[in-house]
Amino acid sequence: MEITKDIRYVGVNDHEIDLFEGQYKVENGMAYNSYVIVDEKIAVMDTVDGSFYEEWMQKIRQILGSRTPDYLVVQHMEPDHSANISAFLQAFPNTVIVSSAPAFNMVKQFFGTDYADRRLIVKEGDTLSLGVHTLQFIGAPMVHWPEVIVTYDQHDKVLFSADGFGKFGALDVEEEWACEARRYYFGIVGKFGMQVQNLLKKAAALDIQIICPLHGPILKENLEYYVNLYQTWSSYGVESEGIMIAYTSVYGNTKAAAKLLADKLTERGCPKVVLTDLAREDMAECIEDAFRYGKLVLATTTYNTDMFPFMREFIHELAGHNYQNRTVALIENGSWAPLAAKAMRAKLEACKDITFAEHTVQIRSALNEDSIAQIEALAEELCS
Ligand code: FEO
Repeated sequence: MEITKDIRYVGVNDHEIDLFEGQYKVENGMAYNSYVIVDEKIAVMDTVDGSFYEEWMQKIRQILGSRTPDYLVVQHMEPDHSANISAFLQAFPNTVIVSSAPAFNMVKQFFGTDYADRRLIVKEGDTLSLGVHTLQFIGAPMVHWPEVIVTYDQHDKVLFSADGFGKFGALDVEEEWACEARRYYFGIVGKFGMQVQNLLKKAAALDIQIICPLHGPILKENLEYYVNLYQTWSSYGVESEGIMIAYTSVYGNTKAAAKLLADKLTERGCPKVVLTDLAREDMAECIEDAFRYGKLVLATTTYNTDMFPFMREFIHELAGHNYQNRTVALIENGSWAPLAAKAMRAKLEACKDITFAEHTVQIRSALNEDSIAQIEALAEELCS
């Protein structure tokens, strides 16, 4: 695949994977992107997952013919991109490995050597001439590992963005970009909003025509759309008007309360209501929705003087991903000593700028006149 006259795609699609990074369901597979820049000197941009060494090398050799690569640029040391460094450098003994200083510490950890005799350490602002193409390196620490760099090709105005602007899904499957890019972003990068903001500021100073990420499609058109979404996501802004109701339910009574609230919100014309069973929905999808909308209702049963396990996991994950700047309402159920609302509130204290709704709903075992009235009041408050 030709990206520009001199830049070729040599990535691979993985349809065998069950869980990406050991935890994310990827029903449409995963793409590990890699690129070759052919100039007077040749640079290969990152490797791919270890299972695809042969396929990746075959693509590279097809492009290079009798030539050999001068540089292997390593932007990120997570093994979905770095697994083949050692094999590649063995196959091409004259190739120089180019990366950041912290990356070489990890190279040593993963491969037992930091290639001191054939490496080029680059830092913010350094450039590398390939001929007509000049690569400019930009630090992107903690997006989402500390060693990350991104690379700007000054000639073709291409940003090689590492994991930034990536998504779940192989490239031979058609699907909407934002849905799986959002789940990817909040799952993997979401905690590091400030660091993404720093990178976006640096990128704003460049004339970027094409974005080549390490996962997902190459972005060539309407780049403003993708950059604006990244601005919203990394600043923890509200992307879509709406309310997410996330519940756990043992015998259906808490679910009935969550459902009733959803109906009351819809009746009042709330633009979007998302109702989610935390025990059954993909957790990464739940996290994504919590960040997407401005208001979140948490409904759960009291369990072991705490909350139900799936709710505990959900709030723990939200806090771990830097959930903030949202309105949260609580619904608790308890047959003898309701404590779930108190427990949820305590766990959410780790999150910045959370506004709790004035009305907290309490259900004693099952809905009754009193708890239905509380749900009415909460619906009114959330819609006003
Ligand atoms: Fe795609 Fe952070 O590895």
